[in-house]
Amino acid sequence: MHKHIFVATDGSESAERAVALGAELAATFEIPLTIGHVLRFGRLPKELARMAEAEHIIDTVQKASNITLGLPAGPRDSDLFSSSHMSSDIVQGITLVGEEIISRAANRAKELGAKTIATMMVSDDPADGILEMAEEAGADMIVMGHRGLGRVRYLLAGSVAQKVNNHAECTVVTVR
Ligand SMILES: Nc1ncnc2c1ncn2[C@@H]1O[C@H](COP(=O)(O)OP(=O)(O)OP(=O)(O)O)[C@@H](O)[C@H]1O
Ligand SMILES: [Mg+2]
Repeated sequence: MHKHIFVATDGSESAERAVALGAELAATFEIPLTIGHVLRFGRLPKELARMAEAEHIIDTVQKASNITLGLPAGPRDSDLFSSSHMSSDIVQGITLVGEEIISRAANRAKELGAKTIATMMVSDDPADGILEMAEEAGADMIVMGHRGLGRVRYLLAGSVAQKVNNHAECTVVTVR
C-alpha cells in the first residue's frame, strides 16, 4: 500500500476533486497527506485572478490584509496580475491567494476525514514544483486534476498533468 499521498491543487474544480480523492484515500488507509500549490508570479496569472474572483478569495484576502487587489473594471484579460505591473502588493496578493487555496483544500481534506495533513507552497514551473514538493514530502502517490484553471477545453490532459505524469517516479493519479 502507499505510504504518503501528495495532492496538487491550483484551486480549480478538477483539483478539488483530486483533493477529495486524496483525502478519502488518506482517511481510509490512514496515511499522511500533503497538499501543495505552486505560486506563479510570471505567466498566466490571469487564471489565478479569474479563479480568485469567482471563489471570492479576493474578498477573503483583502479582509485579512490591508492590500487592495481590486480586479480591473475592464476585460478580464487585463493584466493586473502580470509581471509587468508586479508591485510588492501584487506579489503578496498572489501569495495570499495561494495560501487561501491551500488552506481551503486542507479544511476540505480534514472534513473528509484525513488525519495527518501537511501543506506546502513553492514558486516554480508548476510541474517542476509539484514533482519537487512530492519528493520532499516523501510521497509515493501524486493525485492531481486532469485539467486545471486553463481555459482550453478539449479531451487532452492539461500540460501540467501531462508533464507530471511523464516525469514522476511515483504513481500519478489524474482525476476526471
Ligand atoms: N500552480 C499549480 N499548483 C498546484 N497544482 C497545479 C498547479 N497547476 C496545475 N496543477 C495541478 O494540475 C492539474 C491539471 O492542471 P493543468 O494546469 O495541467 O490543466 P489546465 O490548466 O487545464 O491546462 P494548461 O495549464 O496546460 O493550460 C490541476 O487540476 C492541479 O491538480
Ligand atoms: Mg494550468
